[in-house]
Amino acid sequence: MDPSSLSKALRGYAGRRVLVTGHTGFKGSWLCSLLCHLDSEVLGYALPPLREEDHFNVIGLEQKITHREADILNFEQLRKTAEDFQPEFVFHLAAQALVRPSYEEPKLTFDTNVAGSVNVLECIRTSESVKALVYITSDKCYRNREWIWGYRETDELGGTDPYGASKAAAEMVFRGYLESFFRKRSGVGAASVRAGNVIGGGDWAEDRILPDAIRALIANAPIPVRNPDAIRPWQHVLEPVTAYLYLGLKLRDHPEAFSGAWNFGPGEDCFVSVGSLVTEVIERWGSGVMEHAPESQAPPEASILSLNCDKASRCLGWRSRWDFHQAVARTVDWYKAVANGKAAADVTRGQLQEYLGDTP
Ligand SMILES: NC(=O)c1ccc[n+]([C@@H]2O[C@H](COP(=O)([O-])OP(=O)(O)OC[C@H]3O[C@@H](n4cnc5c(N)ncnc54)[C@H](O)[C@@H]3O)[C@@H](O)[C@H]2O)c1
Repeated sequence: MDPSSLSKALRGYAGRRVLVTGHTGFKGSWLCSLLCHLDSEVLGYALPPLREEDHFNVIGLEQKITHREADILNFEQLRKTAEDFQPEFVFHLAAQALVRPSYEEPKLTFDTNVAGSVNVLECIRTSESVKALVYITSDKCYRNREWIWGYRETDELGGTDPYGASKAAAEMVFRGYLESFFRKRSGVGAASVRAGNVIGGGDWAEDRILPDAIRALIANAPIPVRNPDAIRPWQHVLEPVTAYLYLGLKLRDHPEAFSGAWNFGPGEDCFVSVGSLVTEVIERWGSGVMEHAPESQAPPEASILSLNCDKASRCLGWRSRWDFHQAVARTVDWYKAVANGKAAADVTRGQLQEYLGDTP
């Protein structure tokens, strides 16, 4: 799909009420910036942002949307919020979203990612207003067979670490609600969506290579790399986020045709080793060195896992727009511009407009 058709389609969000869980996080804050750019009425429901420098804070999102700091495990509060707001669209992103902390806090991970997701689904089951749900899980929901082929939406679910297992469980729960309730009610479309490693400005999560690299570059320190040869699919955050929005409109307009599972992964050129990613980051930043820092006690990391995105390409006309170099360039440029004193909200807006092909 060319940028102008996508941009035109997304204008369908103007004036629409959209509930986003996890809006204080990395992907949620980019999704909400896009929705604000599209003139939607947004309510965000999440725990407070973790750090002052988080994307949510530096772009001043709290002032642009209705910001609700609350726990998705508090069912009554979530239900009341949804009932009062009467959203037409729901994007569920709230999660314990990291693999390594899931080994330290497995119960919190399962509670948040499974029980929290049940709460969201239950609110929608009883809602009169919701017409479309986009339910974000992860590429880690698939049973990793350690093979080179991309996983299809129909492949077996799995996940051996607590995070992956919680996302596979969240998928099972979703399927139960979809088949038992949403498909039987006319006028509600619901999709679970699976994307992989996402990069972009304003992510400061611990133990993610891109934020780790930027922290080191800003401190003029070597970038510690645990696993330079591990190959991962890298994708700019605007790719899945715009895909979620486009799918949301399709779900509202044709719920029977578009409900189900969807993969949104990057193109072949984006399967790049961690070492090559860091080299590219250093080049774009203009200085810096990498340091191999293997950890003897590190929990196991999954080997390559890729997504087959034929369904998204054939049925939605969707494919990644920015290649690996563009994704890294936009990401590094964001951090560099903000480190040099540019207003983060302007940098984010500029990148949204560039992605959508909108003239500023
Ligand atoms: N970032 C990636 O590379 C990536 C890859 C695949 C899937 N995902 C999925 O995308 C979604 C968003 O990921 P992210 O990178 O923005 O994560 P993030 O950690 O930056 O944000 C998580 C969000 O969830 C909220 N949250 C956590 N526990 C909550 C609770 N109990 N109640 C209410 N809110 C709660 C946080 O407050 C935050 O807003 C997650 O579902 C994640 O699993 C992310």
